[in-house]
Amino acid sequence: MQYFLIPMNFEGRDIISIKDFSKKEINYILEYSKEMVDYAKGKKQNNLLKGKVLSSLFFEPSTRTRLSFNSAMNRLGGRIIGFSDPSGTSQKKGESLADTVRMADAYSDAIVIRHPHEGAARLAAEFAEVPVLNAGDGAGRHPTQCLLDLFTIITEKKKIKNKKIILLGDLKYGRTVHSIAYALSLYGAELTFVSPSSLKMPNEVINECRELGSEPTSTANLEKAIKDADVLYVTRIQKERFPDAEEYNRVVGTYKIDNSLLERAKKDLVVMHPLPRTTEIDSEVDSTHHAVYFKQAFNGVPVRMALLSLVMGGKL
Ligand code: NCD
Repeated sequence: MQYFLIPMNFEGRDIISIKDFSKKEINYILEYSKEMVDYAKGKKQNNLLKGKVLSSLFFEPSTRTRLSFNSAMNRLGGRIIGFSDPSGTSQKKGESLADTVRMADAYSDAIVIRHPHEGAARLAAEFAEVPVLNAGDGAGRHPTQCLLDLFTIITEKKKIKNKKIILLGDLKYGRTVHSIAYALSLYGAELTFVSPSSLKMPNEVINECRELGSEPTSTANLEKAIKDADVLYVTRIQKERFPDAEEYNRVVGTYKIDNSLLERAKKDLVVMHPLPRTTEIDSEVDSTHHAVYFKQAFNGVPVRMALLSLVMGGKL
């Protein structure tokens, strides 16, 4: 997929949900991300965001999203302030999210926020003049992960249209699958949702896919679905979102991807995972050509470099 890069202006734009973006805009971001790869690897240097400050507000644990945003900002010559644990902030004293966001707005040029409550990033954007990037809002959405997932699929598979893609695992509470299901429908993928019956894809997301002309099928039978799949997107059961520990214990370990299962798959099946994984992918899969989840995690850096430079107005 090669797009002629007619410059688009994203300066000042919030990144709250992938649904806020047209296909043309997503294509542009993905093409621009490609240009960032050598910078993300440190092979080339630029100072596009020199003098800019990013606030990084993480109210929930994170490894990849937080560190790749940090890496991206550093690679662009910018600086970061923020926290990875709200217990050291005035939230502890009862400060509201709105007031915390107002402060980050006053101290920086953009805000990245992860929060356990759905809708928190949208709320933050109402209290900030500077652009807000949603790094995950509860079981809601995760647009920057979605863009790096699309980037990975296009890199590995050249195109998305008509590809058979399985979304597997916790489709109820997983925010990454809510975002990618919508985006893959926009690109014309053939979707299969595989989950325990208690963790099915919410109707709201299924309806969004249908509105885009997609007809996702749902099943609990992974062994059958994997036979003709091009991409298997695996997710963790989101333990922290379960109201009842018993219910978590009932479903954890339902699916396990290992080499014997992959023998049933097409040779060129790629296995993705937003990570962290717990028990759902055996480590023996890591050394097979199917595994792309570590490459996928790296792709977070060029994609977030592209997003940060676009919303803060630094252009290559
Ligand atoms: C995901 C998340 O936080 O939603 N992780 C990530 O951002 N790469 C997936 C998860 O936590 O299971």
